[in-house]
Amino acid sequence: MSKIPVLVTGGAGYIGSHALLALRDRGWPVAVIDDLSTGTREIVPEGVPFYEGGIADADLLRRIFAEQKIQAIMHFAGSIVVPESIEKPLDYYRNNTIATHSLISAAVACGVKHILFSSTAAVYGAPEHVPVDEQEPTQPINPYGASKLMTERMLADCAAAYPFNYGALRYFNVSGADPDGRSGQIGKGSTHLIKVAVEAATGKRDHVDVFGSDYDTPDGTCVRDYIHVSDLADAHVLALERLIAEPQENLLLNCGYGRGLSVLEVLDALDREVNQEIRREMKPRRAGDPPELIASNRRLVETLEWSPRFNGIDTIIRHALQWERKLAEGRAIPPSRA
Ligand code: UFG
Repeated sequence: MSKIPVLVTGGAGYIGSHALLALRDRGWPVAVIDDLSTGTREIVPEGVPFYEGGIADADLLRRIFAEQKIQAIMHFAGSIVVPESIEKPLDYYRNNTIATHSLISAAVACGVKHILFSSTAAVYGAPEHVPVDEQEPTQPINPYGASKLMTERMLADCAAAYPFNYGALRYFNVSGADPDGRSGQIGKGSTHLIKVAVEAATGKRDHVDVFGSDYDTPDGTCVRDYIHVSDLADAHVLALERLIAEPQENLLLNCGYGRGLSVLEVLDALDREVNQEIRREMKPRRAGDPPELIASNRRLVETLEWSPRFNGIDTIIRHALQWERKLAEGRAIPPSRA
C-alpha cells in the first residue's frame, strides 16, 4: 500500500495526537494543522510539519495542501464537550459544522482524495437499543451530537458530488493514553470522567462528582463504552487504508468495544489500581447525558479487521494514570521548541 501524505487537523489535541503517532509509527508522511485553542504544540513530535491556524482559513489550507502534497485528511479539530455545547451551541455549530464546510471546500478545490472524520456516538442521542449499530436512527439530544451529524451529512452529499471518499468514525468514550507515554489528555479544564478521576487519584482534585444516580441502569449511574485512544488511533490507520483501497466506498463505523461500564464501575476500577478509595460525591444528573451508550462494533471489526490491543478498563486506567503522573511531575510535555 502506498503511503500518501496525510494532514491531521487537531493533531496537537488528544485524539489527533494519538492518530498522528499511529500514522508515524507506520511510516506515513504527515503534517498537522492546529489552532492551539485546546491543543499543545509541544506534543507534536519533532520533525512533523506544523501549521498554527484554523481549518476555516482557506488560504492557509491551500498552502498546506500544496507544500505537503496532501492527499488525505484525518479531521479531528473541533469542540468536544457535551455540557459546554448546551451552553454555547453557536460555538459548536461554528467549530464543528461551519469550519468543516470550509475544510471540505478547500479539500475539494485542491483534489484531496480521502477524508476521515471524527464523529461521535452522540449522534444517536439516547438510543432505544444497546448495543447501538450504525443503522440505529440518529437523534442527537445535544448540540454537540447535532453539529457532528450535520457534518456527516455534508460529507455524504459532497462525496457523492465530488471525487473523494470519506469515513465517519463514531467514537464512543475515548480514554486512556499512549502506552509509551508519548501523549495523553492534557486537560485544560477537564470534564471527561476518566481524566477527572485520574486527576483525583494524583491529587489535582479532591473528589469526583458522580452526575446522576437515579438512571434506569443497574447501579443508577450512566453506562458508557470506554475505548482506549490508541486502539481508536489504530482504527483510523486501517480506515485510511481501506479508503485508499476502495475509492468508491465510504465508511460509517462505530468505534467502541461493545461493553458498557457504569460511572461507579469505572471509579471502582481506579480504586483497585491505586489501592485507595477515591472520594465520590453524588450530584444531580448532568444536562444532555443519555443513560446508556454501548457500541455494536461488528462492522468495524469485520470491515477493517480491527483487533484492539488495549481492551479493558484496567489497561485504560493504568495508561491514563501513568500519563497523569507524568504530567503532575512535569515530565509529559517537552520544553517549548518555539
Ligand atoms: N461523569 C461523572 N463525573 C464527571 C464526569 C463525567 O459522573 O466528573 C459522567 C457523565 O455524567 C457521564 C459519564 O460520566 O455519565 C461519561 O461522561 P464524559 O464526560 O466522560 O463523556 P460523555 O459520555 O459526556 O461524552 C463522551 C465524548 C463525546 C462522545 C460521548 C459518547 O465527549 O464526544 O462520549 O459516549 F460523544
